Amino acid sequence: MTETTHDEWFARLAARAQAGPSELSAVLALASAGGDLVDFSGGFPDPTLYDTQLLGETAAKAIASQPQVALQYAPNYGLASLREVLREEVHRTQGVRPEQDELIVTSGGVDALTLVSKAMLDHRDAVLVEAPSYLGAFSVFRSHDGVCFSMRNDEEGLVPASIEEAQAAAVEAGHTPKVVYVIPDFQNPSGLWLPLERRREIVEIARRLGLLVIEDVAYRDLAFEGSYIDSIYALGPDVTVQIGTFSKTFTPGTRMGWASGPATVIDAMAQAKTNTDQCAGALGQTILESYITEGHYAASLPVLRGAYSVRRDGLMDALAQGLGDRASWTHPDGGFFTWLDIPGVDAKALAAAAVEEGTAFVPGGPFYADGRATSNIRLSFSRTSVDRMAEGIARLARAIERVEG
Ligand SMILES: Cc1ncc(COP(=O)(O)O)c(C=O)c1O
Repeated sequence: MTETTHDEWFARLAARAQAGPSELSAVLALASAGGDLVDFSGGFPDPTLYDTQLLGETAAKAIASQPQVALQYAPNYGLASLREVLREEVHRTQGVRPEQDELIVTSGGVDALTLVSKAMLDHRDAVLVEAPSYLGAFSVFRSHDGVCFSMRNDEEGLVPASIEEAQAAAVEAGHTPKVVYVIPDFQNPSGLWLPLERRREIVEIARRLGLLVIEDVAYRDLAFEGSYIDSIYALGPDVTVQIGTFSKTFTPGTRMGWASGPATVIDAMAQAKTNTDQCAGALGQTILESYITEGHYAASLPVLRGAYSVRRDGLMDALAQGLGDRASWTHPDGGFFTWLDIPGVDAKALAAAAVEEGTAFVPGGPFYADGRATSNIRLSFSRTSVDRMAEGIARLARAIERVEG
């Protein structure tokens, strides 16, 4: 008997798993090859900013003082005490208090997206997405048989009128529009902050069209000036599921996040969680709860904002000096990213040339659900030290010359 081959297994995979590695994983694999790379690619927090001694003590205390909680399964909604803390945090920072059955603890942001997809999407339902938007969300929607329809973004972010255009396009193509996915704060990938008036319009349109807004606030706590515009959830809690993650402001290693929204949807998400990981890890939940209630989370935010804003400044300077008029880019007031447009350049070819020159970033194509060709690229400044940025951008400039060449 011959052994079963890769090709035979591949042919037996579910259709949704047969796409193979994406364009993005090819770039990230090249970037992770290491060497003297100046890496602007991933949306990763900088682990050197963690207070590891404090985290170690907090973890040890959680295990020693309440092992029957920290080392046990948790309820699928999350630990009651942490949910109470998170409801209060949402209230304190957004002015709206989710009821007890309106908030679930999740295993990070992607889990929250997974659960809301399981709760809302039937086969081939339409998901209206920003153009550009977070490519990981497209992947979650598609793996739940959703079909993404692009809305329009301009230099201020999502254009609310384009919700109706995308909705009409979806209906015309025979799909049922169910949800609108928006990242209003320091968006991934654009870094932009959506104006208040547009947030109000989104709520009004969602109510009128019967759509659920999924508001992803992954970077909301990283407003460099520490100020906040009303969240879409605060403006329309009846039509919004807000999903948040502690991966950017606490640690991705604990995989902690939350979702708050209408009780009916949150309940369906909690039911769906029994079919995925059952509950977010209790150990991470107990550590996060102490970290917040002892004031460490609030105390850490100014430190993180300060560190990331210095890097933002460093990258803005490096871009101005290294690329000048050759490209344009956004000036983020928070988060991890800036979004470049390099007219006349194919972003995918540029990404490959850049890795050969010794720098890495994510090309813009995968951030568009309709797969359009693009001259945009995303640079993340979260993990790159300021003294390496000028060199990274000089390498990018050389790569641009090569692909133009
Ligand atoms: C907008 C956005 N949402 C969600 C996530 C995923 O969060 P998590 O790592 O907690 O799953 C990310 C991570 O890059 C993100 O940028």
